[in-house]
Amino acid sequence: MSSFAAARAFPTLLEPTETQCGDAATRAPAEVPADFAALGLPARLVRALAAEGIDTPFPIQAATIPDALVGRDVLGRGQTGSGKTMAFGLPLLARMARFGRSLPNRPFGLVLVPTRELAFQVADALRPLARQLGVYLSTAIGGVPYDRQLEALEHGVHLMVATPGRLGDLVERGACHLDRIEVTVLDEADQMADMGFLPEVTALLEKTPAVGQRLLFSATLDKDVDALVNRFLVDPVTHSVDPSTAAVDTMDHHVLVIPPREKFTITASIAARPGRTILFARTQAGVDRLVEQLGEVGVSAGALHGGKTQRVRTRTLAEFREGRTSVLVATDVAARGIHVDGVSLVLHVDPPRDSKDYLHRAGRTARAGESGAVATLVLPKQRHQTMKMLSTAGVAPTETKVRPGDQALVDITGARTDLPARRRSQYAA
Ligand SMILES: Nc1ncnc2c1ncn2[C@@H]1O[C@H](COP(=O)(O)OP(=O)(O)OP(=O)(O)O)[C@@H](O)[C@H]1O
Ligand SMILES: [Mg+2]
Repeated sequence: MSSFAAARAFPTLLEPTETQCGDAATRAPAEVPADFAALGLPARLVRALAAEGIDTPFPIQAATIPDALVGRDVLGRGQTGSGKTMAFGLPLLARMARFGRSLPNRPFGLVLVPTRELAFQVADALRPLARQLGVYLSTAIGGVPYDRQLEALEHGVHLMVATPGRLGDLVERGACHLDRIEVTVLDEADQMADMGFLPEVTALLEKTPAVGQRLLFSATLDKDVDALVNRFLVDPVTHSVDPSTAAVDTMDHHVLVIPPREKFTITASIAARPGRTILFARTQAGVDRLVEQLGEVGVSAGALHGGKTQRVRTRTLAEFREGRTSVLVATDVAARGIHVDGVSLVLHVDPPRDSKDYLHRAGRTARAGESGAVATLVLPKQRHQTMKMLSTAGVAPTETKVRPGDQALVDITGARTDLPARRRSQYAA
């Protein structure tokens, strides 16, 4: 493939870079191109990026953009916060810019993501660049009225950023035809290949032309995506700039072993710390209960989970982003992809389901080279299983036994020890 030969002129510095499907050679180490123009992106897009303060490609971008630009199917894995959005977004926009006018109800490109918040975020990241290229983009997510999505489609958009359910509805209604789609991106691809999403994602991909380009990205891209890869990707190239379990090296991991009855007191003292903090709880009811109880001890926090209306979800995340609240309590709906500047601590109030969920939750801090801390509250009986899960995640945490008011708790998390006590801690473990 001659176009691929051109892409090979930009090998990556990072090991391991794998290729798949007969392309067995590991690429020789070489300089990461110093700028986006050298990766083959159009000058207008490079200028638009510079206007956003982005002028040096991150490793995952240097690795994947040349192959994506020449039309190859790409599997891209880079740690949380490593810049995957632009890694797929830039070649996608470059491709969209070549179309000229958009067509009513027939987009040319598709980005599928697992949550509504992530759809908005990806669209917000790409929109200023798209505008400079004359590319129209729009979102299709559930939980909001159809009117504006229908209007945008009717007017004609080049690119849709969507959650699978709502896009499926729009396709059903005849408002969106996928027969002109040339590029489909699955962000958080391993989650999109989960049982919950797979039927819808498969149905949508089937409606796109078989010759279309497919780009699959995630921090934890693994064999979970095999079903989609085997069916929908042709001769894909895999770029993995880090081993799947590599810890982000600017992230500190702590396991805090706590007495069972002190879970709320310790959680509250950590939530009251200065600085932006995300707390993850397992269930929607757990999130609501915790936010209410934090309020009782004077700690104001936003609650984000799938049981809230989209209006409230959007407002809660905006308040956290803008710094009007400094604590966000969330279910795993906020675990993947969400970027908020300056989150300095992620606290797993309830342990995550598995090592992948741990890495994604944790990845809301220490993004794009920033540093951050991650703490997991563990009851003595949960200790063994949690340590095993962390080892699978490739994380070697510092383990500390703490009680409310301990100096170690303050040193590790910045916890405040002067909160009023609740009459009786009801927060169930
Ligand atoms: N080349 C770059 N130079 C400077 N900043 C960048 C660059 N590329 C991306 N960023 C910034 O890095 C941050 C993280 O990027 P992004 O959200 O794309 O990470 P990600 O790899 O998708 O993470 P996750 O796995 O959590 O989804 C964003 O704020 C983005 O604007
Ligand atoms: Mg992302």
